[in-house]
Amino acid sequence: MTQADLVVVANRLPVDRVVDASGEPSWRRSPGGLVTALEPVMRRADGAWVGWPGQPDIDVEPFEFEGAHLVPVRLSADEVEKYYEGMSNDTFWPLYHDVIAEPRYRRVWWDAYVRVNERFAAAAAEVAADGAEVWVQDYQLQLVPRMLRELRPDLTIGYFHHIPFPAYGLYSQLPWRRQVLEGLLGADVIGFQRVADAGNFARAVRRVLRYATKATGITVPQEDGSTRNALAKAFPISIDAASYIELARRPDIQARAAEIREGLGNPKKILLGVDRLDYTKGIRHRLKAFGELLHDGRVSVEDVTLLQVASPSRERVEAYMQLRDEIELTVGRINGDFDTTGHTAIRYLHQAYPREEMVALFLAADVMLVTALRDGMNLVAKEYVAARVDNRGVLVLSEFAGAADELPSAVRINPHDIDGMKDAIMRAIEMPAAEQGRRMRALRKRVMDYDVARWSRSFLEALDEAKAARRSTSAT
Ligand code: G6P
Repeated sequence: MTQADLVVVANRLPVDRVVDASGEPSWRRSPGGLVTALEPVMRRADGAWVGWPGQPDIDVEPFEFEGAHLVPVRLSADEVEKYYEGMSNDTFWPLYHDVIAEPRYRRVWWDAYVRVNERFAAAAAEVAADGAEVWVQDYQLQLVPRMLRELRPDLTIGYFHHIPFPAYGLYSQLPWRRQVLEGLLGADVIGFQRVADAGNFARAVRRVLRYATKATGITVPQEDGSTRNALAKAFPISIDAASYIELARRPDIQARAAEIREGLGNPKKILLGVDRLDYTKGIRHRLKAFGELLHDGRVSVEDVTLLQVASPSRERVEAYMQLRDEIELTVGRINGDFDTTGHTAIRYLHQAYPREEMVALFLAADVMLVTALRDGMNLVAKEYVAARVDNRGVLVLSEFAGAADELPSAVRINPHDIDGMKDAIMRAIEMPAAEQGRRMRALRKRVMDYDVARWSRSFLEALDEAKAARRSTSAT
């Protein structure tokens, strides 16, 4: 039986199950950034990855994939509905994104969440070697750190929260606010995207549990009357910048970018939005601003086109179905009012694309619109910047995305302020090449210096330090 020195625990496995024409299933590496980030680390460390294969009711034995040991966790259709669609994506997701949509608090969802978290913790406990490090990922698994510590006190446990942690006034709505904090505090290192998220967490810990916190340290009382220290700190995630740069330099991808421009009728300026179709992304606000610019005559469809990629997401959750209807109605209205036979106002694509096509889109776009109402980080902003090897293009970036903390050279917006957003879009459209270059160089420097390898390295270093500190206390 495999015993791993480093175990990653995430809701999803780093592979997707694909079934070919003859009905034969196989596994394909998923396109996500976390997968790219952790792959080299996993290879080095005799790593295992515990996760859900992405479909209900499939039984798969642990298997090896590209140098990592993968441990599938089975979820029934009922659990997918209650733990994943319900508690994770209809309770935690909206609550943690500042209640942009109304969170629903259902006790049967919570029960399923506890049960499924127990299953992930048990699977991790089984595969972890003696004294191993375990790195738990994201809001679907907030109870795992504590459950795992109870099962395996020898492990050093990290947790990274990829989404925002809300202000206490909102967090306190959660009927299970105490259990979730206790769950997270089972970890030795708790990572957040922004300093503000770590601050919100520490405040919730003080208010709900009355534990002492000092800078990034939290004093956690133990059952035997002693205390231990947990670290709660910002580790902003990033992208594999080099791979975007490599793609952006490829002649076939540059040719594809020219073809995309051509396909849109060669407008003077192309604005681009790329998001999962999610209410946190501010797609409606963006469409409203663009529609008004057309209405006001500040831009015309001959000159400016908005290309909006909205990739399908969580399609069985009510709030997502509603959002899709609203967006598609709005796009239809705007296009109906302003399209000509030769030009379209908005080219809307409810599809997902491989990374090559994404880079071609980034190269084709003069202005990238990231208008999130709340976002843990927003990696699309970083991907756009990395892809602009020509030092051209303008990033319009919401101050409510975590990326705004690191990218001050973007054109900053408050997406709730429609007039302000309209002015910012005009400024981006009209920005002289020299200013574009100045800003883009500064943005690129940050993204290249702080790439995803650096992110995982700094988190794992903090985990190593926690492990060393545990050893020295247990030795005394
Ligand atoms: C966000 C979350 C991830 C999640 C991803 C896609 O980035 O932080 O945990 O995996 O969205 O959502 P999905 O529900 O399809 O996994």
